[in-house]
Amino acid sequence: MSRLVELEANGPRKLDADDVDEQKGDVAICQCGLAETFPFCDGSHRQTRDEAPDQRYVYDEDGTRAVVDRIVSDEESD
Ligand code: FES
Repeated sequence: MSRLVELEANGPRKLDADDVDEQKGDVAICQCGLAETFPFCDGSHRQTRDEAPDQRYVYDEDGTRAVVDRIVSDEESD
């Protein structure tokens, strides 16, 4: 499985001591791309648990998931 994710940042997010979870004592970085608290994990990755290994997905802002067959660039569509 893979996921299409839109990100707007164009630079790094530097972590500091305030980013450490006081209760858990760690910093959880989102790797699924779905966290509303990106770059930090907020548990949104649970939505991906039933993704099929051979599919590509895109998620809307409301969490609605769709399967994407193919990505077409503007240059290809002309
Ligand atoms: S890994 Fe993305 S929300 Fe947890």
